[in-house]
Amino acid sequence: MNSSRGTSEMLEATQRLALTLDAAQLGTWDWDMMTNAVIWSPHYFQLFGFTPGTLTPSHERWLASIHPDDRPQAQDALRRALDHRAPYHSIYRVVWPSGETHWIEGRGFFLRDATGLPYRMLGVIMNIDSQRTLEAERERAARLESLGLVAGGIAHDFNNHLASISACVEVVRLDARLGPESAAQLTEALRVVGQAQALTRQLITFAKGGTLRKASIDLHDLITDTVGFALRGSPIQVEFELAADLAPVEADPSQIQQVISSLVVNARQALAGPGRVRVRAAHRRLETVDPVAGLGPGKFVEVTIEDDGPGIAPEHRNKLFTPYFTTKAGGTGLGLATAHSIVRRHGGSIVYQPVQPHGTRFSILLRASEPAAAEEAPRPSEARPARQRLLLMDDNQSLLTSLVRLLKARGYDVEATASGEECERRYLAARDAGQGFEAVVLDLTVPGGRGGVETFAALRQIDPDLTGIAMSGYAEVESNQALERQGFAGVLAKPFKCEDLTGLLERVRRA
Ligand SMILES: Nc1ncnc2c1ncn2[C@@H]1O[C@H](COP(=O)(O)OP(=O)(O)O)[C@@H](O)[C@H]1O
Ligand SMILES: [Mg+2]
Repeated sequence: MNSSRGTSEMLEATQRLALTLDAAQLGTWDWDMMTNAVIWSPHYFQLFGFTPGTLTPSHERWLASIHPDDRPQAQDALRRALDHRAPYHSIYRVVWPSGETHWIEGRGFFLRDATGLPYRMLGVIMNIDSQRTLEAERERAARLESLGLVAGGIAHDFNNHLASISACVEVVRLDARLGPESAAQLTEALRVVGQAQALTRQLITFAKGGTLRKASIDLHDLITDTVGFALRGSPIQVEFELAADLAPVEADPSQIQQVISSLVVNARQALAGPGRVRVRAAHRRLETVDPVAGLGPGKFVEVTIEDDGPGIAPEHRNKLFTPYFTTKAGGTGLGLATAHSIVRRHGGSIVYQPVQPHGTRFSILLRASEPAAAEEAPRPSEARPARQRLLLMDDNQSLLTSLVRLLKARGYDVEATASGEECERRYLAARDAGQGFEAVVLDLTVPGGRGGVETFAALRQIDPDLTGIAMSGYAEVESNQALERQGFAGVLAKPFKCEDLTGLLERVRRA
């Protein structure tokens, strides 16, 4: 009586356990270590990619199913549990007969006899694919974030150094004794500094997403310059097919430059020697929404960059725009990911297209600007009527020195200060002496001191009409609009050319 109730309770409990294991998608095993017989539950078979009951389970079968790279550690986990009389826990990949790989987490324990000898092992396994994917995703995000922080910090310092270099080079270029050959070299140096600036922008884009500094740009020159630079010194033959009447696009020139440069550099690396790169730009009207590009309708400028290199393997095609996807030994896998995010933020699209018989084509669509009234061209700064008095503030001494010399050479009356506090003192002193300044040009960030925004606010308390121009070493600190709301007449991202500053001063003066 008692024993039959016991039996039915046992059966019920077993049934409940089976249901629970089933609901949790757990597989179970039971290993008799005396006979070496192993029992797997139907779920166990499935988690290892087998049809239940189609093969005889064994310890060897288990080990053989494990991914070769994970086998040593799976065996280790077992040995540790045995030696230390601890519960067993292990995470490994199994390779299914179909070749698919899946993640498994196993937990179990040993039954031991009175002498402590293990004679049986029981345990459960579960699939943890989705957990691993999430973890990998999180790891990648964290890596990207730390890379972003580092990149942002470096970009800041680097930009300041570039500003000093370009200012020094500009000073030397002013020297009348310079031969045409040397002058051309210096002009070239300035252009390369401009390219280095574009590179720091890439880091900044990555660090913070970057603020778009949109302008109406003519892609014709931007494309020829960028492609020429990216292919300089290579045996690659370039073919341009750029529509002569190309409509301007509203875009951030340095970011679009970065996109084109990444694509051309990829083509150059794929060709790894002689080959052909074809760059086209033409209008394209989309009457409806283009399903591939996800854009439209409207008028677009399409830029395509095509090479006749080896092309991209089919299994890689859907990973191209994923950060860190690279097939190159020293690759970062950030080129296409960044290009994609830039183009998307411009409201455009970038797609990959294979080329027959071999090669790669990327096509970028950017919305064409509506034609606007032509802007009045600024007059050259040499045409200024009277000497304008300027007060500069920057903690970067070499930049300051160069800037003062450049401005003086262009007929400005300039004084320089190295901190917000000094700037304010000098401003007040000059004003009291009846030699006030018409405009101040202020660095936005001064480590450990008062920056441009605060300094300008203080000066404006005294002279509400004072003209202020901000110099930002870190293009992303504040958007142009935010600075203009604070009363700045304009913002210059370092490194800038002296003409950028004088042009801005002219425009402000005439306004
Ligand atoms: N023009 C191309 N030809 C062949 N493969 C390319 C081309 N452009 C990109 N790829 C492939 O896409 C991958 C990712 O490119 P990218 O994001 O620029 O990173 P990286 O250049 O650092 O590898 C490259 O490693 C390469 O496998
Ligand atoms: Mg690349």
